Parts: sequence; C-alpha cells; structure tokens
Amino acid sequence: MERSVVLVKPDGVQRGLIGEVIHRFERKGLKLVGMKMISLDDAILDEWYAHHKDKSFFPSLKSYMKSFPVIAMLWEGKDSVATIRKLIGITKSREAEPGTIRGDFAMSQQYNLIHASEDLTVAKKEEALIFKEDEIFPWEKTDTSHIYLDEELKS
Ligand code: CMP
Repeated sequence: MERSVVLVKPDGVQRGLIGEVIHRFERKGLKLVGMKMISLDDAILDEWYAHHKDKSFFPSLKSYMKSFPVIAMLWEGKDSVATIRKLIGITKSREAEPGTIRGDFAMSQQYNLIHASEDLTVAKKEEALIFKEDEIFPWEKTDTSHIYLDEELKS
C-alpha cells in the first residue's frame, strides 16, 4: 500500500480545518498511520521545497511555512498518492474544483491549506524527513474488506 505525506499548512491550522481534512480522508477510506504537530525549520524546508528554490515566491513560501506549526499526517491506501492529490485540488485554490479541499475552503495560490506528496518518490523522501520509524503505526483497519475487493489488495 502506498503512503502519502499530508501537511495541514499554517493557514489550515489557523482556520480550524484540521478536523475537516481528517474527516474527508477518513470517509474516503484512507488509513491514518502517523500524525504530529511540528514547526518546520529552514533545514527541512530547503529540502522539502528544493525544486522551488529558484522561484520568486520561495522566500515568501518559506516564511509562511515557518509562521505557525503544521499538522503532519501519513495516510495509507491503494494508490493513495494520486488519490489524495485529487482530493486536495490544484495549487491555485480559487480555481480548484468544488468538492476538493482547496476548492471548498481556499482562495489563494500560496495560502492553499494543505500539502500532499506529488508522487511516490517524493512521498518516500517526505516521510523520511518528517517521521521516525516509531512514529508510524501499521495498525489493522478492520473495515478494509468493505473498502477494497480482495483482488485490489493483492495487486
Ligand atoms: P504546494 O503546491 O503544496 O507546494 C508549493 C507551494 O508553494 C504551493 O503549494 C503554494 O503554497 C506555494 N506557491 C506555489 N505557487 C505560488 C505562487 N505563484 N506564489 C506564492 N506561493 C506559491
């Protein structure tokens, strides 16, 4: 099963949307296997946003992400990386599809509430940056057989 890292960004924490995010992912059938509140520092952010380091918005992005703590979560599920990207909507929130988290709750390109791993390689890198091994919980979700067909669990 894939695991994807999700951050409720400082604006999402300030706006009281942590529960909303968790609620949506839980109802979808994803499994929460790790969660904590953390303050991001320069070392993590430089690594996290290395692909944006030459963009004009990089300094502003970093100071925003350091402004308040974030909630970091690790969600597990079949094809969870792509599934979660669909659930959150596109970066520019005011153009995000209604029904997505950004489409329903945000207006900004920067203050877009939530981060989700872009692909599986990035997800693994982000998981290693944020979570220690003993912060990940491989618990058994007993309704799994009502969420997936047996064949889907095998492939
Ligand atoms: P995300 O796509 O999760 O990761 C990169 C973040 O940079 C993005 O969310 C926004 O928060 C921010 N971002 C992207 N584009 C811009 C922009 N043009 N101006 C300001 N912030 C941006």
